[in-house]
Amino acid sequence: MASHRILLLLLTSVLLLETSASPSPCAFPAIFNFGDSNSDTGGLSAAFGPAPPPHGETFFGAPAGRYCDGRLIIDFIAQGLGLPFLNAYLDSVATNFSHGANFATAGSTIQRQNTTLFQTGYSPFSLDVQSWQYAQFKSRSQIAYKKGVFKDELPPEDYFSKALYTFDIGQNDLTSGYVSNMTTDEVKATIPDILNKFTVVIKGVYGQGGRFFWIHNTGPFGCLPYVLDRYPIRAPEVDHVGCGAPFNDVAQLFNAKLKETVAQLRKDLPQAVFTYVDVYTIKYSLISQAKKHSFEHPLVACCGHGGKYNYNIHWGCGSKVIVNGTEVLVGKACRDPLKRICWDGVHYTEAANKWVYDQIVEGAFSDPPVPLRMACQRQNQ
Ligand SMILES: *[C@@H]1O[C@H](CO)[C@@H](O)[C@H](O)[C@H]1NC(C)=O
Ligand SMILES: *[C@@H]1O[C@H](CO)[C@@H](O)[C@H](O)[C@H]1NC(C)=O
Ligand SMILES: *[C@@H]1O[C@H](CO)[C@@H](O)[C@H](O)[C@H]1NC(C)=O
Ligand SMILES: *[C@@H]1O[C@H](CO)[C@@H](O)[C@H](O)[C@H]1NC(C)=O
Repeated sequence: MASHRILLLLLTSVLLLETSASPSPCAFPAIFNFGDSNSDTGGLSAAFGPAPPPHGETFFGAPAGRYCDGRLIIDFIAQGLGLPFLNAYLDSVATNFSHGANFATAGSTIQRQNTTLFQTGYSPFSLDVQSWQYAQFKSRSQIAYKKGVFKDELPPEDYFSKALYTFDIGQNDLTSGYVSNMTTDEVKATIPDILNKFTVVIKGVYGQGGRFFWIHNTGPFGCLPYVLDRYPIRAPEVDHVGCGAPFNDVAQLFNAKLKETVAQLRKDLPQAVFTYVDVYTIKYSLISQAKKHSFEHPLVACCGHGGKYNYNIHWGCGSKVIVNGTEVLVGKACRDPLKRICWDGVHYTEAANKWVYDQIVEGAFSDPPVPLRMACQRQNQ
């Protein structure tokens, strides 16, 4: 009896200890997102015309400004935090920014490009421009909010310091090096400059009041059809999965340096909290072990046309081409996008995005390893 009681006491105190030690979730009231097509929820569509059908088909039932059949990782993040989907800052119709805004556009880079979208496909809204848009959004929304107008669609001032600031950008900086005919070594040599620009933007957002940063590293773009199709490579540069090893080496070098950059930012900005999220490892394991995770044909686009990867730059997903005098829509070639990883040769499917989100939400691939809902908590390390 006595021993039972002791055990009960012990259990109770352990439970008490756990409750008092486990911190409460952050209750982020808003998300401000910066990035490229991996997290564009309508920016490029607003500026340059809508992403056509069949984008959006799986989840939204119609194009929704995303280069995907459904939701992106940023959508799952918003839902996971109990917040509405983010509207694009550039969108001027039926938007609601009460819980954040999205500055990402497809084709965005960290470094400014010296070419136009029409020449190389890179967005004019590079990360520095996105940070100006954020500053403009913050100041103008507060002027309006304080006047009492648009209160139902703008965030109150305190949301800016309580919000989660999310970043997913860098892949296009690396591919743009290849587009301008750099060798892999030359692309690698551009990484320090790219990350210096990244640091400048993070410090700028911090200067505007941002405190909680959630930063995705860049994915294995050497496994994406648009890279494999444009830059055919031969063994031994093709890995056992069929991905281009030199491209993935570049991505991994970028990620190692990004991780160092984030570590330095923690030192420079001790009031801020940074979570570095290794989406590379998750995406690569999904692609390399597709079967195990119930996916098929990891290197083949679902929506597209032609060749080994069902991808042709001139026959992009949703484009209309004239074949023998008849207009044909380049649509879905796969039966079940829920079984596919690659949507259009450049972007992941909703099913793959959900899978990645499920891996990152509890912090298993984060440095420090904190769950999304705890990403405001400073770690002592
Ligand atoms: C654009 O041109 C400037 C000036 O020549 C150069 O410093 C910069 O690196 C170029 N940017 C890119 C992305 O090539
Ligand atoms: C914007 O969204 C918030 C949260 O979902 C909601 O409370 C508010 O009414 C919306 N504003 C408008 C103008 O619909
Ligand atoms: C890269 O090389 C290709 C093939 O030689 C050429 O057509 C293209 O103009 C070059 N691009 C640049 C930016 O120099
Ligand atoms: C276009 O017509 C030619 C000649 O009839 C035919 O050989 C070819 O397969 C057609 N192309 C397509 C894509 O249907």
